[in-house]
Amino acid sequence: MRTQVGIVGAGPAGLMLSHLLHREGVESVVLEARSRDYVEQRVRAGVLEQGSVELLVETGLGDRLKREGAVHEGINLQFDSERHRVPMTELTGRAITIYGQQEVVRDLVAARLAAGADLRFEVDDVRLDGLATDQPVIRFRQAGRDEELHCDFVAGCDGFHGVCRDAVPAGVLRTYQRDYPFAWLGVLARAAPAIEELTYCNHPAGFALYSLRSPEVSRLYLQVPPEEDIAGWSDRRIWDELHRRLETGDGWVVNEGPVLEKGVTPMRSFVVEPMQWRRLYLAGDAVHIVPPTGAKGMNLALADVRLLGRGFAAWYAGGGSGLLDAYSATALRRVWRAQHFSWWMTSMLHRFAGDDAYQERLQLSQLRYVVTSRAYATSLAENYVGLPTV
Ligand code: FAD
Ligand code: PHB
Repeated sequence: MRTQVGIVGAGPAGLMLSHLLHREGVESVVLEARSRDYVEQRVRAGVLEQGSVELLVETGLGDRLKREGAVHEGINLQFDSERHRVPMTELTGRAITIYGQQEVVRDLVAARLAAGADLRFEVDDVRLDGLATDQPVIRFRQAGRDEELHCDFVAGCDGFHGVCRDAVPAGVLRTYQRDYPFAWLGVLARAAPAIEELTYCNHPAGFALYSLRSPEVSRLYLQVPPEEDIAGWSDRRIWDELHRRLETGDGWVVNEGPVLEKGVTPMRSFVVEPMQWRRLYLAGDAVHIVPPTGAKGMNLALADVRLLGRGFAAWYAGGGSGLLDAYSATALRRVWRAQHFSWWMTSMLHRFAGDDAYQERLQLSQLRYVVTSRAYATSLAENYVGLPTV
């Protein structure tokens, strides 16, 4: 088998890259370890920056997003039992849209299949060879058979636990990492959200976030110890803890409903530099992870492949390798801004083991400054809605 760009991973990064390349007349094949159902149902991020929405709309993927996505012009920061609104659109002229990652993935899979794309689900044992030559090979197994995909370039879009990053020889990549001493317990519930806008809450018992997916479905998160066993969290215990952290005693209550899904996600900051080696280009979670407090993960993945897609398009159009050569350095500028923002939001909103009363006072002072200073609120807002894509 031969193609121009071999893509490993059918998450937002791999699928969007394949879609963008198709629009530029560049061929690709996407290899995915999981089933189509699995990738379309995996509950993850929910916030699209305005730039991500524009990318989806401009490339013909805006129909359902425009119908079902909810545009939000602000978020709330809650601390000291008070809720404060950050009016993002008033401060920046931009907004976010709530639309689940699995909906983005569904739209992308549907568009790719309608265009006749070669998307291979449930492939095993993906290995990269010949990356230092101009004809790399991706070897894999499918339905019990050994297969080879010959290509001009490999795009490693296979997420944090993928294999592409490890195909780079030792000593080439530099890793920057921070693990946090807590995780998020996330719940998806069939319950009408009792809030109109996302509410991030700093509480003495730990961080909580009230988010949503639709007028009937709430998405809620609780800070829990790292590696917490979900088995210890009955639905009753989860709701009790959400009531405790999110309610401020003024009569407003969190709406309960049947829990559709729950899970624990570790919190990590992680960057690998550079994002390219020879014929291998890495994008999305395969090269960088942020804690979800800034809602940046999926947005960064989309921003990476927008750049990468332009680089491949220019190369195949005879425009040379300038954009591809600049890919890593250009993408990393945005990646590091998101790293800092996500670390900052995380640090301001969570309880860290060992925090003393002085540290708590500093957090509260910073939160109060954010919600009372137009300059500081604008800084939060412009990062949250997404800085312009370079
Ligand atoms: P992924 O979506 O991880 O896609 C990579 C794909 O590669 C997967 O489909 C995987 O099955 C496939 N793959 C892996 N290894 C191989 C292999 N060897 N061969 C073939 N295919 C392979 N972000 C937020 O902003 N808010 C959230 O609430 C949030 N929650 C999250 C919860 C979890 C459990 C995780 C893991 C991430 C969460 N994120 C969240 C981050 C966000 O979902 C990611 O940043 C986003 O999915 C990145 O997209 P991607 O395409 O780079 O990677
Ligand atoms: C979500 O709705 O899943 C969500 C929203 C905001 C975040 C993280 C997750 O910061």
